[in-house]
This record gives sequence, C-alpha cells and structure tokens, in this order.
Amino acid sequence: VSVPLNVLKRVDAYLKQYLSKKSGMKGSSSVRSSSSGSSGTDEGLFEQPDLQASSRAALEKILRRRSLQMRDQQTNWQESPEGRRMLEFRRSLPAYKEKGAILSAISNNQVIIISGETGCGKTTQIPQFILESEIDSVRGALCNVICTQPRRISAMSVSERVASERGEKLGESVGYKVRLEGMKGRDTHLLFCTTGILLRKLLADRNLKGITHIIVDEIHERGMNEDFLLIVLKDLLPRRPELRLILMSATLDAELFSSYFGGAPTINIPGFTYPVRTHFLENILEMAGYKLTPSNQIDDYGQERVWKLNKQTPRKRKSQIASAVEDAVRVADFKDYSPQTQESLSCWNPDCVGFNLIEYILYNICENERPGAVLVFMTGWEDISFLKDKLLTNPVLGDPSRVLLLTCHGSMASSEQSLIFQEPEDGAKETSYDALNNTPCLLPTWISKVSARQRRGRAGRVQPGECFHLYPKCVYDTFAEYQLPEILRTPLQSLCLQIKSLKLGSISEFLSRALQSPELRAVQNAIEYLKVIGALDENENLTDLGRYLTMLPMEPKLGKMLILGAIFNCLDPISTVAAGLSVRDPFLTPLDKKDLAEAAKSEFSCHYSDHLTLVKAYEGWKDAEMDHAEYEYCWKNFLSAQSMKAIDALRQEFFSLLKDVGLIDSNMTSCNAWSHDVHLIRAVICYGLYPGICSVMHNEKSYSLKTMEDGQVLLYSNSVNARESKIPYPWLVFNEKIKVNSIFLRDSTAVSDSVLLLFGGSISKGGTDGHLKMLGGYLEFFMRPAVADLYQIIRRELDDLIQIK
Ligand code: CDP
Ligand code: MG
Repeated sequence: VSVPLNVLKRVDAYLKQYLSKKSGMKGSSSVRSSSSGSSGTDEGLFEQPDLQASSRAALEKILRRRSLQMRDQQTNWQESPEGRRMLEFRRSLPAYKEKGAILSAISNNQVIIISGETGCGKTTQIPQFILESEIDSVRGALCNVICTQPRRISAMSVSERVASERGEKLGESVGYKVRLEGMKGRDTHLLFCTTGILLRKLLADRNLKGITHIIVDEIHERGMNEDFLLIVLKDLLPRRPELRLILMSATLDAELFSSYFGGAPTINIPGFTYPVRTHFLENILEMAGYKLTPSNQIDDYGQERVWKLNKQTPRKRKSQIASAVEDAVRVADFKDYSPQTQESLSCWNPDCVGFNLIEYILYNICENERPGAVLVFMTGWEDISFLKDKLLTNPVLGDPSRVLLLTCHGSMASSEQSLIFQEPEDGAKETSYDALNNTPCLLPTWISKVSARQRRGRAGRVQPGECFHLYPKCVYDTFAEYQLPEILRTPLQSLCLQIKSLKLGSISEFLSRALQSPELRAVQNAIEYLKVIGALDENENLTDLGRYLTMLPMEPKLGKMLILGAIFNCLDPISTVAAGLSVRDPFLTPLDKKDLAEAAKSEFSCHYSDHLTLVKAYEGWKDAEMDHAEYEYCWKNFLSAQSMKAIDALRQEFFSLLKDVGLIDSNMTSCNAWSHDVHLIRAVICYGLYPGICSVMHNEKSYSLKTMEDGQVLLYSNSVNARESKIPYPWLVFNEKIKVNSIFLRDSTAVSDSVLLLFGGSISKGGTDGHLKMLGGYLEFFMRPAVADLYQIIRRELDDLIQIK
C-alpha cells in the first residue's frame, strides 16, 4: 500500500485554508450570517432621537415639538381635497370598519391576531391605524412601527402605497428595508421590511430598543423566517412589557397562534370580494368542446393512468387547441395512489402541465372578455420564461398594442418586479406571471386548498373575476387543507444550518419552542450528520464549510460537491451531478418498454457510476440541443425532456450562486480546467455523498454490498452498477437508501480506498484527525486489513505531528 500521507495532509489543509481565506476575504457583505446593513455597518432600523440633548427634559421637549409637527402635518393632509378623497377610498376597505376594535385591542393586549381575506386592507391599513393614532395622541416621535413581509417585493410596493395614502413620498414617515436596498429617513416611523431583516436586527439587539410595535404579516404562510421570528419574539415579550405584537393572517387559523401566545385575542375582519367563477380542468375542456372520461389505459410514457379524450367529441377544431387538450389530459388520475405517492407527486408528469392550454385560455380571455388583468401562477422561473416566449409568438397575445406581457419572479431585480403594480396604458390588457416558489432545488408540489382559494381571491379584488384551475376537481380534492409549515417542510439539515447562521443558540432547544417542531430524534440525527460532514464542529458551531453551506440554498451534500467542484475546477460535470440529484430521475422506464429503456440507459453507462452516466447523457443532450434535436434525443433515449431542461437551468443557477458567495471569481465564465479528470470527479462526488458509503465484497462469481448500519444492502434495479457482474473498486458512495423489503441504494459511484481516505471526511475543526478516526472505524468494521494498516500508519504519523506542534 502506498501511503498518500503527504497528499492527504495537503488536501485537507488546503481545503481548510482555502475556505477560511475566502470567507475572510469576502468579509461581511457576502457571508450571510454577518450581513445586516447594506453598507456593512450595523445601522439601526430607525433613527434614535437626539441623544446629544443635554438633559432628559431637553430631550422630552424635542420629542414633543417633533410630535406636534407630525400631528399638524397629518391633519393638513387629511383635510386637503386629495387627502379626503384618499380617506374615502380607505374607508371603503373592510379593515377600516374594524379600526376602533383593532386599536383598542392593541392598547389592552400585548399580542393580538388579526385575520381577514386578501385585499381587505390588513397590510396597508393596520400599520397606518397605529401610526395615525399615535400621531394624533402627540406621541408620533416616540412610536416606531415595524411591519414584516415575507417577500421583498411586497415590502417595497406596500410601503410605497402607504406613503402615498399619507400624501408623502417614500422615505418620509414611511419607509422600507430589504437586503441590500432600502428607503428610509430621519423621520421614518413606519418601516416595512422583510422578515429576514428583522431577524438580522435581532442578532445585534436582542431587545429591539426603540421599537414600539411589531407587526408580523402573512403568518398563515407559515414561512420559516416567520416561525423563527415568533419563537424569538415570544422570548422577548416579557422583557419588553410595553412592546406590542400584532400578527396578521389571511386565513382563519388564528387559534393556533392565539394559544401559542397564551390565549391572545383574535379579531376577524369580515371579508368582501366580488364573485369569482371557478373552472376546473374538466370544465375548461368542456368549454373547448371536449369531454373527459377517466380511463385505465397506459399512456406512452407508461406508469401513469391518464385521462383519455372521448373520441366522439367534435373533430372540427383547430389543431392547436387539440394539442392543448391532448397535453392537458395527461394529468394523472390520482385517486388510486397512496397518500405518500400523491404527496411526492411522482406520478405527475410536469411535461404535461399544458402550456398550450394556458395559451388557449389566455387567447379566449383576450378575445372575449372586458379589459382587465390576468394573473398566471407558474411553478418556477423556467416555466415563466418558456411561457412568455411562447406567448410572444401568438398573433393576439404577442401583440403589444393589445396585451402587455409581464413577468415577476423573486430572482428578478426589484424595479422589474414592481412593473406589475403599475397601471398599463389604456387599451392594453395585462398578463403577468408570478412564482411564489422561489426555492431553486425543489420539485414542484401541489399547493394547498387554502392557497388555491387565496389565489382565486385575487381575481375578485376590484371586479368580478374568473379562475381557471389547470387540474381536475378530483385532484383538487386531494390537496391538503393547509400547507405544511415551511419549518416542517425544509430539510432538517438546512434548517439546522439556518438556525446556526442566525445565531439562535442550541438547535434542538430552539426548535423545541416552535409553534410546531420537527421530531427531536430527527433533529439530533441532522446535527450529527452535519458534524460528520464537517459543517458543524463538536460544539455545534458553524465551520467555514458550514458557513458556505448556509449560503447555498440546497441540501448540504450538493453544496459540498459544488464547493469542491469550484475549488478543484471541475464544475461542469459536478454541477450536472448536483442538478441531477435535485430533479426527478431523467431516465424514464415505461412499464411496457422496460427492456428498451434499460438498453438505452446502458448505452450511457460508464465508470461504474450512475452519476457519471447521467453526465454523459446530459452532454449528449447538450449537443443535440445545439442541433435543435433535443426532443428526438430524449425520445430515443428514454430521457425526460423536462428533467433535462431543469438540469440545464439548475446548472446555470449553481454557477451564479457560487459566484455570489465568492467561490468563483466574478469575471470567470467557466470553471473546468480539470473537468476531464474522471478520478477527480469521482473524488468530488465522494466528498459530497460521504458518509453514504458501502463496502463491495467480492466472491467467486459476483459481489455483495454491506453498510455499517444496515449490513447487507442491494442496488436499485435501474442503477448501472446493478448490471455489472464485478465492480473493480472496494467502495460505493451512494445518494439515497430506500427501504422496501430489503434496503436498496439508489444512485451510486464506485470509489477506491485512497479516494475514500482523502475525500471521505470532513474539514471540520477536528480536521484530518477527526475524520481519520471516523474512517478508521469504517475500515476496521469492514475488515480491510491493508487499509486498516494504512490508517494506523497515518494515525501514528499524525499523533507525532500534533505532538511536535
Ligand atoms: O393586506 P391585505 O391583503 O388585507 O390588503 P392590502 O394589501 O392592505 O390592500 C388593500 C387594498 O388596497 C387593495 O384591495 C387595493 O385596493 C389597495 N392597494 C392598492 O391600491 N395598491 C397597493 N399597492 C396595495 C393595495
Ligand atoms: Mg397583505
């Protein structure tokens, strides 16, 4: 056995140095855990009153004078003609009718919960009621109201609206603050900010000195930041008895929040919306002259039961509509699947979402309806831009004199996003797209009934409207009533890293105080895993690697691969692997063409690695795409076109993320000097997937597999390694274990002893030593004497090394 000790020391020390140097260099502006103010300095959210004043009495005098000014200014506006007109509008909102009740509840209780349908005036009115009433009571200069929003765009648009309702420009009494952007001034007393901004503020000032009212908006969404914030605020309330907390929800689930805050009172604003007509997929198809009947026939793609068109329907239809309908009816009939399957949506083929159908509906609306706006909800940026390009080629929808096509997505610049709130010029109908799901690496999932209702509600805010659901009623019936809170949906490992980056203390202790907490055992496992992979040190503190992982919104194992891929200049194949692990398996196996599909996959099989097999398939797809033949390529090779496109988009996203966090220089266009080195790629995959390793035990004819925790395991039948009679490597690293009757490993890559030794561990504080201990355990367990010896040698040398130091 050759001892790669020098290499071992180099790799580990190199990584450790590299990451700590990088994170030191980027400083506070990029490392999320320490970025608070846009300018780098930790500015407060509000201006503090003039502390230079010579005495308490002098300060009180200044504040009183300022409060009187504020009152006069407010009264002048309210009595001006425009002010009166504005007030008239505000009075028409349902929230206005509850003004008295809301204000008196706030003055009598530390915490209250307000619910009311979208559009009733919660966000624009309630913060204003508070500010106005404080100003009227000549306490304006003492009052500082924070209203948190889950999304940047709402913080910005709503603050602008409220400023104009107060007859002011943004940045006077009303301002906003989101990451890297803000508009506020010396006289700002009502600040709209993202929930994240307030959480960061809490890092610097646990008591939120000077803030008098905190309004947490959109709590029904149960976003992770909002749930985090509530835990911290619940802690803070007893320390700040005069502080007021107002929670606002668009749904009637106030009970949960009320009991969390010891029976806080709730106020419901009775809603008003114009009627909204609802159409499900079957109604839409009927309108197009088709009739749907469920059928058991197996579709070309296999696996799924599909809805078949009743062929007796009128044939004289434009081919465009026919293909639209064809697309749409591929929707799976869900009723017979287990709840788990329904949840994972594995039987939902996103290729069939039906862009054609959307085009058809939009075309009809624009041809037949009165002027107005159409809002289309899509699952992600990919789909949004694809649809826009498609619509631009439509003679009616693509005609800018008739339709204004706008897109909106969390990743767009704020100025572009805010276009959707501007009134279009006369005559132009407006179409905009909205994607609320901004997480890059998650598969699309069904929304909840509550959010379906909420989206529908948006069609009835200013006039009667219509809502088209692109799924059958029977699928809607399977939706969960409420969406699971994000804190229970987010992978626990990422959740733990987030808690650490927000410096919220002990992970399990913090989570145990949540509105709804994940299971303690699962949390402990996640912490243990994060220690093993080197993201947390023994004391549960973030390591340099961990800090980078908190900045990459994906599973830590994928983050690790990408980080190393960037450092070792082999990002092309590695980002394909990481993207492939984030999307639905691109290799399709239709039930009736299983053999053909497997044969097609084995054409790509290489290097005893499912991951590298995917890389090969993707590279072929990329070539085919250049010749505009990517669909034929997918068809021929039993690949999902949608997954391939998703991989392609994710790769780009990964690249810009790595640039953002400073692991790739901003002027670099690629990071591939070593992308051809299969051994290196293998090693980087191993680095990401560790500790997912199993030992390959050869006997005369074949081999068996064993992991430390499970003993004997098997390979999933569609793994390329399952078809090999011999694997000329001692280890497999794998992505996922599935337990059916036995335990099956999903995608795997074969690796050598030295790769496992060099890349299997962590670069945690324990460093090489800690990771060797871990590996030593593995090696001894699997009785690989030669390697165990190697381990002993390295161990001894390290001990010497440490003693010499
Ligand atoms: O928060 P909630 O959904 O209850 O309603 P809101 O955002 O306060 O909006 C209340 C009303 O203000 C809306 O129905 C719109 O008529 C109007 N509004 C507006 O004109 N422009 C905005 N940027 C926001 C709201
Ligand atoms: Mg609102």
